[in-house]
Amino acid sequence: MQSPYCRQESSGNFMRASQAPISLNLNESPYGVPTAALEAARNAVRISSRYQFELVEQLRQDLADRHQIPNEWISLYPGSNRALHYATLAFTNAQKPLVVGAPGFPVCEQAARLHERPVCQIPLLADGEHNVSAMLEAGAGGLIYVANPNNPTGSVTPHDALLRLIHGAANLTQQAVVLVDEAYVEFSDEPSMIAALREHPNLVVTRTFSKIYGLAGLRIGYAVAQPELLNRIHTQPAHDVPAPAAAAALACLADEAECTRRKHATKKERQAFTDWLGGYGLRHSNSHSNCLLIDCQRPVATIIEELAQLGVKVGRSWPGLDKWVRITLGTTDEMHILRQALAQVLNLERS
Ligand SMILES: Cc1ncc(COP(=O)(O)O)c(C=O)c1O
Repeated sequence: MQSPYCRQESSGNFMRASQAPISLNLNESPYGVPTAALEAARNAVRISSRYQFELVEQLRQDLADRHQIPNEWISLYPGSNRALHYATLAFTNAQKPLVVGAPGFPVCEQAARLHERPVCQIPLLADGEHNVSAMLEAGAGGLIYVANPNNPTGSVTPHDALLRLIHGAANLTQQAVVLVDEAYVEFSDEPSMIAALREHPNLVVTRTFSKIYGLAGLRIGYAVAQPELLNRIHTQPAHDVPAPAAAAALACLADEAECTRRKHATKKERQAFTDWLGGYGLRHSNSHSNCLLIDCQRPVATIIEELAQLGVKVGRSWPGLDKWVRITLGTTDEMHILRQALAQVLNLERS
């Protein structure tokens, strides 16, 4: 029997997941597992009584071809969180800090705190860019983490600022490693930093299939760096990912058109939603991604609760931003329901 919490409907070329309650809380794809990926994963399950090393190697090779780098520069993980965690342990210690933007994605910080490594939070600039000068000043010898686009804001740090950061980190008396987390880069028009890897041995880039590709539950992501750096993050055994996840990821890479459709659909919903927020005079972060922070003008804890009662799960607030809530963009239908629920809970009137 199909779960009422996960009804799958086919809509054009999308697999549309309409869920009750609707989940706009974890920056997942509202468009479901792409059809080709679902088929590939099913087929991989059938042959999963045996190890599928060749399939996993095929994914590494496809990624290497796509990014025009040698395949030894790619390390696969069951989700990019794993790479963030291990990179934090590899490149920080009691004297070597982790430097992060605030508000930001917390996985590196959680790893650092768990292992009692110093953490330095640098507030984002007013437009949501990372403050690369301040990050450099704080980062000597350690790890500087930048998500681009950032979570929870969806804001981007321009390419030239990132290059300045990576170059500056390499030239510190105590060199720092820069990790650029590109979990959401496919939603934006920003160039990937993977192209900068050849010239920058102190750079790590992470990517995931959890976001635009809609494979969050399958757990597959990767880190890219020059081998000397990558080998310091590696856990043994390397590239230890499930065959169905690797097969689904390969199918996603082969379907560029689906990725583009999802990017455009997300952009359309983002524009419609920010126009709507603007109509009510509600401030929001400058997002280039599938999520944004909105200013509810009062503490959001009760708002989150009230929205949940109306069947809409939204994200959370961030430390120091208790009137702001993160919302993930959904399908057109889901965004319609969200707007109705928000209007009711926030008691909105046109400004
Ligand atoms: C910025 C950022 N990086 C990484 C991840 C984790 O992705 P994965 O599912 O690949 O572990 C997330 C998930 O929300 C994220 O927001």
